[in-house]
Amino acid sequence: MSTRIFLAILASALPALGQQPLSADLTIRAGQPGPQVNRQIFGQFAEHLGAGIYGGIWVGEDSKIPNTRGYRNDVLQALRDLKVPVIRWPGGCFADEYNWREGVGPRAKRPVKINTHWGGVTEPNSFGTHEFLNFAELVGAEPYISGNVGSAPPRELAEWVEYVTSPAGSLANERAANGRKDPWKLPYIGLGNELWGCGGNMRAEYAADVTRRYSTFIKVPAGVKILKSASGPSDEDYNWMEVMMRDAGRHFDAIGLHYYTITGTWAKKGSATVFDEAEYAKTLQATLRMDGIITRHAAIMDKYDPQKRVWLAVDEWGTWFDTEPGTNPGFLYQQSTLRDALVAALNINIFTKHADRIKMANIAQMINVLQAMILTKDDKMILTPTYHVFEMFKSYQDATALPLDIKSPWYNQDASTMPAVSASAVRGKDGRLHIGLVNVDPNHAVAIKADLLGATVASVTGRVLTAPAINSHNTFEQLTVVKPAAFTGASIESGALKAVLPPKSVVVLDLQ
Ligand code: AHR
Repeated sequence: MSTRIFLAILASALPALGQQPLSADLTIRAGQPGPQVNRQIFGQFAEHLGAGIYGGIWVGEDSKIPNTRGYRNDVLQALRDLKVPVIRWPGGCFADEYNWREGVGPRAKRPVKINTHWGGVTEPNSFGTHEFLNFAELVGAEPYISGNVGSAPPRELAEWVEYVTSPAGSLANERAANGRKDPWKLPYIGLGNELWGCGGNMRAEYAADVTRRYSTFIKVPAGVKILKSASGPSDEDYNWMEVMMRDAGRHFDAIGLHYYTITGTWAKKGSATVFDEAEYAKTLQATLRMDGIITRHAAIMDKYDPQKRVWLAVDEWGTWFDTEPGTNPGFLYQQSTLRDALVAALNINIFTKHADRIKMANIAQMINVLQAMILTKDDKMILTPTYHVFEMFKSYQDATALPLDIKSPWYNQDASTMPAVSASAVRGKDGRLHIGLVNVDPNHAVAIKADLLGATVASVTGRVLTAPAINSHNTFEQLTVVKPAAFTGASIESGALKAVLPPKSVVVLDLQ
């Protein structure tokens, strides 16, 4: 592309006449491959919370909503298209009160319980172990069960694992009688959830001992692998990480980290859709804290596990705003805007940067709860801007991370300040170079120039996600206000990549 055409594209990306373009420089060391970006980083979390399961996934076989054996067809298809690698279930806080036995056997005979954590509504137990594991199989995702450590004895968790994975014995016979002869694969089991809070309000030292105890009794048949994931810290609780790694590190293979992006306070988190630029910037700054938090937790892990055997699993993350007015506050239903899309892409870039230690992440949550991929209402379904980001980054799954340096202009708004451009780069399983870029500045386009050391490329294609406003979102009436489009603002010149990132945009490029 000639300089004239490049400048023309740049000019067309500027939001207002006369506005100065900003510029950023990247160096991507494509000849120095780094760690694998596990596909599990694109994992999801589905809790018995609000319409996360009932209505969102499960409508039952007799529903008028088109379904396959009780699962919504539209949702199944959308999740398959997304290539969801892993789904964490049944909680969350729900997990440490859940009794798996109440969710197996004939549905009509299952006890109806109260969901004490989420809205005090009845829990019919119609979606239990079989329904979840069959659902994961239909989606093509690996199941990650978070077990009850807070309120059930170790035997209960041990028997749940046996029920799911054993080829023989009474529990296997019971499973067969309930409709599943062959064992399922259960690659991941969680040893409780938020043991420092809703999982039992434990001190770190006690939680470490409890983790050792429960881990001891999880047995799988010879030749079968199960990764045991400990309940890890929240945010900057570095003491929790220290104690767990020091006292129980040999008894687990992964440890969770929960970090939610919260703009205000827990009491007043702000609206998901009605916000000004100051709040927008505050949210993005809050999400960027993930980088430093991971760095410090990873440093503690390195001290006890220099070989990096133990996965850091960010098994709950995402935005948490005030619940949508008019909805049950216990259901955590919120809309997802372009701002959420930028949050998702920024975190994917952060996880890619830390791919040597972060081996799984599960966004909270998959459907109808918090930063959802999908929103449903009766038989209607919205794919959120966050869904589109996950879809755009599909080429990152099991790719190889590439080291990069970036010199970015700053984006400043009120008290918030951050680099305008965030970037990551991978060598995909398809052998191609993929680059993920975010321009958080809502007022300026940014022209980037990227030197591609160790790579010879001839062409570039890509997609962009942006929208008219920072709070643009898809509704049940207007499904495609925010959706990806072909990106024509990039070119290869003398072996380097040039691209003009529109304001407030996510761009994923594909080079060959
Ligand atoms: O995702 C909602 C809740 O947030 C989960 O149940 C809990 O683990 C966390 O505090």
